[in-house]
Amino acid sequence: MDLNLNGKNAFVCGSTQGIGKAIAEELANLGASVTLCARNDGALDQVKSELFHTSGQKHQTLVADFSKPDLLTAALDEHIGQGNQYHILINNTGGPPGGQAIDAGIDEFRIAFNQHLICNQILAQALVPGMKEAAYGRIINIISTSVKVPLQGLGVSNTIRGAVANWSKTLANELGQFGITVNNVLPGATATQRLSSIIENKAKKTGKSIEEVDAAMKASVPAKRFADAKEVAAAAVFLATPSASYINGVNLPVDGGRTGSL
Ligand SMILES: NC(=O)c1ccc[n+]([C@@H]2O[C@H](COP(=O)([O-])OP(=O)(O)OC[C@H]3O[C@@H](n4cnc5c(N)ncnc54)[C@H](OP(=O)(O)O)[C@@H]3O)[C@@H](O)[C@H]2O)c1
Repeated sequence: MDLNLNGKNAFVCGSTQGIGKAIAEELANLGASVTLCARNDGALDQVKSELFHTSGQKHQTLVADFSKPDLLTAALDEHIGQGNQYHILINNTGGPPGGQAIDAGIDEFRIAFNQHLICNQILAQALVPGMKEAAYGRIINIISTSVKVPLQGLGVSNTIRGAVANWSKTLANELGQFGITVNNVLPGATATQRLSSIIENKAKKTGKSIEEVDAAMKASVPAKRFADAKEVAAAAVFLATPSASYINGVNLPVDGGRTGSL
């Protein structure tokens, strides 16, 4: 198998912690030069300093807030204008807050749509020309298993994830002819800050202890445990390699078997 990413440039969103950070680390381990993107400047520099770089990679950071799509466009225009080109794009950002769809304000939907779908589109439009030129492109969207089966208490998230998944499948159809693949990784419950805050909120709402909520969530997974972010990253990074060249337009759950559908 060809898992070598030497000479490849990767743009990894939401990479200061959790799944995005684990993906950035694994891409660098395979030889890619990584541009880390998120809001927190100091955290970006910290992650950058920890990335494997002995294959002569040049890692970079780009500060952007995906709740402000216009600023993301401007930052990318400048960044791409400086001659940066990419082979790999990891679309990933913070998940929308919990709650039932019926209770969510219109603005909650607008904010989530901007942060997920609109920013993904801005990133794809900025990076795809370079991928076409290189005849090598991998767009990998970190979404959620709610694409397949909506999750209770994540109404806005369930809605937006479906939109991102169909956007992705559409792009896969359009871009396959250029050597560009577009795929979705659907994490199940993964031990990150996002999961901790979901568990805390559930405990508050139900009056149960954090330990009780944690144990019930684990019991619902055939693997009887949460994923480590590295396990989700391994799937995403495989999709970025030369060996994954004929995998296009798929949803790949990495959920320990939790999702009740194929
Ligand atoms: N963990 C799970 O169990 C799980 C399960 C299913 C799906 N997911 C989804 O997978 C994705 C990643 O999850 P995670 O658990 O790794 O999340 P996380 O630990 O909360 O990390 C989110 C990352 O996104 C960045 N981010 C957040 N808001 C941003 C914004 N407005 N603009 C730019 N960057 C922003 C954060 O960095 P800064 O704060 O520095 O900006 C951070 O690096 C999310 O969409 C999540 O909903 C997670």
